[in-house]
Amino acid sequence: MNSETKTKASKKKAAVLKSDTNGKLDQIFDLYPREEDSLIMILQEVQDRLNWLPPEALDRVADELNVPRARVQGVATFYRAFSLEPRGEKVIKVCLGTACHVRGAQILVDELERRLDLKVSHGCTKDGRFSLETVNCVGACAMAPAIVVNENYYANVKPDKLDKMLKKEQQS
Ligand code: FES
Repeated sequence: MNSETKTKASKKKAAVLKSDTNGKLDQIFDLYPREEDSLIMILQEVQDRLNWLPPEALDRVADELNVPRARVQGVATFYRAFSLEPRGEKVIKVCLGTACHVRGAQILVDELERRLDLKVSHGCTKDGRFSLETVNCVGACAMAPAIVVNENYYANVKPDKLDKMLKKEQQS
């Protein structure tokens, strides 16, 4: 594919994604009263459906609810549940709490960054499948080091188990 064709394809893809985003936002606005009291619930719905809060979604929320854009940004920034960076469908959380750290969790982070070509807390893989985060303790210290991918727990993870874990998560 030459570069002109690639540019056209990526513009087309961006247009499709944008219309898809607007369609999802339309559905969300139909669910709640268009008033400031709905702000957090609407942001939560946007986060659930898009996996993050894109700037154009925040613009639209501000317009539809007639709330200052700065207020919407403030709420989106305040709550940890909201992500202002693209998030993958699956969020890989590597525990870096003490028990996991002393059992080599940082090596798992480094390996995952390398294998996924991704930095911790910075966006998602090119296919939109995975994001990578670190957390302090997932309550599985006896099985350290631990990784959680969405709802799935992986215990006693070693670097040579990562491929198997990624493959399983890729397929589910
Ligand atoms: S420190 Fe990792 S599960 Fe508790």
